[in-house]
Amino acid sequence: MSSAPGHTLATDRHTLTKTEPSKNRWNTLDELATAVSSCTNCALHGTRTNAVPGSGSPSGGILIIGEGPGFNEDQQGLPFVGRSGKLLDELLAEVPLSRDDVFITNVVKCRPPDNRDPLPDEVAACRPYLERQLELLDPKVIVTLGRVSMLRYYPKGKISEDHGKILEWEGRILFPLYHPAAGLRNPAIKRELQKDVLKLPEALRASTRTTNPEIDTDTNSNEQEESNRPSSQTAEAPNNNEAEANKSEPLLTNETTEKEKGDRQLGMF
Ligand code: URA
Ligand code: SF4
Repeated sequence: MSSAPGHTLATDRHTLTKTEPSKNRWNTLDELATAVSSCTNCALHGTRTNAVPGSGSPSGGILIIGEGPGFNEDQQGLPFVGRSGKLLDELLAEVPLSRDDVFITNVVKCRPPDNRDPLPDEVAACRPYLERQLELLDPKVIVTLGRVSMLRYYPKGKISEDHGKILEWEGRILFPLYHPAAGLRNPAIKRELQKDVLKLPEALRASTRTTNPEIDTDTNSNEQEESNRPSSQTAEAPNNNEAEANKSEPLLTNETTEKEKGDRQLGMF
């Protein structure tokens, strides 16, 4: 497998860039969900039936991020409860995992009308919630579903090239997959999803290698001033360590230096 553009083999140890901790002081996922339910920070609040903060296990080490709620999700206030959700369940069962093993949320928490892609300003408005969810959940692996979600963490990525790759983002594993809705529309994409998801256990195992030895994660409370859970900055360029490189499995790392540019991400999957 060749390296993704913008990525190098991440066989090195990373020094995480220390960024400001989130300013948003939702102390728990429940507090955050309550804030989301009454949020009016973007226009999507005007057309929603229910906001969809996310659901699942906070301790499974896997955060799955879709794009935005669809019709059924908007009705029920829960993520991935429609046909895409059924396919997602089937994919997880292959590994095998269930909803109870993962936490699932979306880039935007309210349904974009007619299931259109969320607009850049909507993604930006909703971003603090996702950032804080990431801090609170502290997942080992971030699974992005579809293009919009992948671009949040890997703005230079191409879903057609990067799906199923085990990447690194700020000391975590980033594992982009096609969106299940794309799999429902296109059998070839469904087959790719079925193949890619089998690498999720490998992604979880790979996560142990991304721990920064300088940071003691056990004592790193979410309330601390200095957090090693940056959610919007990128990791520093990797050190080259050829000896490690030679003995490690290919693990790709995200070297991106830009933040998400929402206007480039709207599109097919
Ligand atoms: N598609 C998404 O991106 N998210 C959902 O929650 C449901 C469908
Ligand atoms: Fe608030 Fe996000 Fe819903 Fe917009 S999409 S109203 S920012 S919760």
